[in-house]
Amino acid sequence: MVVIRGATTISSDTKEEIRKAVKELLEQIESRNALKRDEIVSLVFSSTSDIHSYYPAKAAREAGFMSCSLFSAQEPDIEGGLPLCIRVMLFVEKNLTPSHVYLRGAKILRKDLAGKFNIAIDGPAGSGKSTVAKRIAKDLNILYLDTGAMYRACALKALEAGIDPADEASVVALMRDVKLDVVYENGLQKTLLDGRDVSEEIRKAPVSMAASTVSKHASVRMHLVEKQREIAGRMSCVLDGRDIGTFVLPDADFKFYLTASPDIRAKRRYDEMVAKGEQVDFDELKEAIVNRDMQDMSRALAPLKQADDAVLIDTSGMSVEDVVAAIKRAMQEKI
Ligand code: DC
Repeated sequence: MVVIRGATTISSDTKEEIRKAVKELLEQIESRNALKRDEIVSLVFSSTSDIHSYYPAKAAREAGFMSCSLFSAQEPDIEGGLPLCIRVMLFVEKNLTPSHVYLRGAKILRKDLAGKFNIAIDGPAGSGKSTVAKRIAKDLNILYLDTGAMYRACALKALEAGIDPADEASVVALMRDVKLDVVYENGLQKTLLDGRDVSEEIRKAPVSMAASTVSKHASVRMHLVEKQREIAGRMSCVLDGRDIGTFVLPDADFKFYLTASPDIRAKRRYDEMVAKGEQVDFDELKEAIVNRDMQDMSRALAPLKQADDAVLIDTSGMSVEDVVAAIKRAMQEKI
């Protein structure tokens, strides 16, 4: 006995959608595995808790799967789970190496079958990109690349060396002798400067503006962009930054631009810093964020801006869950 798995999604919970999706899924599984209908012993379906209109098992019977036994179950509600999804296991009496089939939005459940893909998430400071990007990466089990951390590491090195971040020639000369690495431990990105873990230090307030300043230098940017493209070219990942969808990966499979009002963005940063025990003045922080946005938006090379084909999400009134769900929905629609 061999088990073949499959999954698909529907765009709305209607009887017609369910019938169509189940028929398409089963027929695809049959053809990709060269199955004869009487070789299928059992079909076991599960559907997510937002599907109520029809039993997938009934849809399978109607699609002509007459001789096998059928069963449908409903899955519990899982936070962050793929919505409106129907899964199936086919128990087959045949000696074969199964080809599992994932259609429509369910393709994101099996990146190994769907092939490599990249997700670009851009936006200004405090728009929620890094929190959301980390969540998406975890849920899809792909890499998260925080590109801002690279500019921050560069800025930290300049500040430590007493170099003005605005002095391009000196920053570039400094970076030539520095080893900047991005490594992963337990799925978390660590930024290493000459082997020293600077992941915490680069988050400090003075480093933020300096990072924005070093990012204006074309030679610094091209050096870091090359590293980012190299990583994204090797594996599926979510990259967050300012220029991912416009410059680093203009052909990214999925592009999002997150934004939020300056007050909300400043409040998020303020809460983060207070939680870390740092002393901050809200108005100063807000001013720093607005100034940094302006600098990032007005630089000559690869400024912060929404790519024409990016999905815009204003996260002002949204929870992290809401934004993650909106991104997953948009990805499903595109697949
Ligand atoms: O995302 P962040 O706050 O860690 O980024 C720090 C600075 O680095 C940001 O103000 C501008 C720069 N940056 C950039 O120019 N391009 C990127 N892809 C990421 C960050």
